[in-house]
Amino acid sequence: MHTNIALLPLPAAMERDDGELVLGEGTRIRAVSGLEKEAGALSDALGLVSTFAVPVEADEGSSPAAGNVVTFHLDDHIPAEGYRLDVKGEGITVAASGPPGAFYAVQTLLQLLGPAIDDPAPERKEEAWAVPRVRILDQPRFAWRGFMLDEGRHFHGKAAVKKLIDAMARVKMNRFHWHLTDDQGWRVAVDSYPRLVEVGSKRDDTQVGFYFSPMRNGKPHGGYYSKQDVREVVAYAADRHVTVVPEVEFPGHCTAALAAYPEVSCTGEPVAVATSFGIKKDVLCIGKERALELVQGVLDEIVELFPSRLVHVGGDETPRDRWRECPDCRARMTTEAMKEPGELQGYFTRRIQAHLARKGVSIVGWNEILEHGLDASVVVQYWLRHADALVGHMARGGKVVMSQYLSLYLNHDYIATPLRKTYDFDPAFSIKEVPESCHANIEGIEAPLWSEWIRTERRLFWQVFPRLLAVAETGWTPRDRKDYASFRDRARACSQRLAVWGIEGAPMDVVDPPWYRRIAWPVHLFIEGQGRRY
Ligand code: ACM
Ligand code: ZN
Repeated sequence: MHTNIALLPLPAAMERDDGELVLGEGTRIRAVSGLEKEAGALSDALGLVSTFAVPVEADEGSSPAAGNVVTFHLDDHIPAEGYRLDVKGEGITVAASGPPGAFYAVQTLLQLLGPAIDDPAPERKEEAWAVPRVRILDQPRFAWRGFMLDEGRHFHGKAAVKKLIDAMARVKMNRFHWHLTDDQGWRVAVDSYPRLVEVGSKRDDTQVGFYFSPMRNGKPHGGYYSKQDVREVVAYAADRHVTVVPEVEFPGHCTAALAAYPEVSCTGEPVAVATSFGIKKDVLCIGKERALELVQGVLDEIVELFPSRLVHVGGDETPRDRWRECPDCRARMTTEAMKEPGELQGYFTRRIQAHLARKGVSIVGWNEILEHGLDASVVVQYWLRHADALVGHMARGGKVVMSQYLSLYLNHDYIATPLRKTYDFDPAFSIKEVPESCHANIEGIEAPLWSEWIRTERRLFWQVFPRLLAVAETGWTPRDRKDYASFRDRARACSQRLAVWGIEGAPMDVVDPPWYRRIAWPVHLFIEGQGRRY
């Protein structure tokens, strides 16, 4: 029956015995206080596809569970997010130090039950479920196992976001980085600055083809999340032990905000929400106090929406052209004794950091924010270049999340970033500048998806899967347990489950193109935007 166990990510340690345990009529779930919700998730999942119901009983610790029982209990010796799962002849024991580990044990158990467990509308409900007898001791390799969705360029909406969060949780990923603002769109309502969505969430037209292409599709595009939408997504994610990290991007990549409030740019001239992609010269003015007030006012409302106490402040790709010419920025440089305009970025980030620190919120930023000195409390997301600054940050005790451009950007075509390349990227060993003494400062791994050319949900899922499964395994599984051939088989099985949930990834026969090595990597900037079937 279960000749293949297709667990993804592969657990840290697993032993398999002969035989199976059968869950059916009479099976019960017992949970100690604190793990009822995770036990309930198992009960719900089984209930949907079975002729029998599996009630959850409170475990008062009085009598040992007898009969066909799934017990959930707490064990402080198990590391954070880890769990022990014992499927024996007479029952199942789940132990964890808290709810996240119990949740991951349930995900493993659901994978052990086979793909039919995921069918939301089965033709026939099962009378019994066989679970292979295993003993699993599991825990993640990294604390941060993330995915970033850019909704600034294309708004995909709540339904797609929930599907992605659901899929992430099932493969034990735990950080959803929500890139909500960019040159081409502002996607979250802010009460004190209503024009951010009134003006900033819409654009008239969109570039198609490739970066620098003269072609446009002539179609308006827009969309944003109300505060209620955001709360709904955050709660949905929290139920799945996924932390949502919002990104509000300044001082670059903020044309949509400047279109809404031109008085916070250097020139004060009207600009339109961008309809083409790439790096824009118009940036936030660091000389004008009202510009900093706007950012702080926005962040004050944002942190109220997200319990994560962590905000991504962007900070990448900020040209200095406007700052160099702006009298306000030059005045700031004089009063702050700065030698060159680039230092304005460090000044800005430190001010925002201090403002948020007063509210108990820390910041994450793209690696460019290291250029002008930040303390070690900042989490740096590493994508490209500046590896020396990164190592310096880690040497001072700073934490880093690895999102290396050529291996982990899921917007790249499979020609440029095949599945195998994503799978082989290692957060500790693939960036040669990072010494072993810094490995403990690697918080984890995150795969970003930038949506310039990703207009539809179908294309979105095509880009994300199966590569996100590779990222999930790297984030969770010990390095010496990873094996690409086995991963590919398990990814194929997992893709079938994803399809049942309405997520059609790229087929396994296109994700490792044999000829990719013959294509020079900058070519991907061109091919990324080429029309697919959708
Ligand atoms: C980035 O890709 N500009 C962080
Ligand atoms: Zn300025």
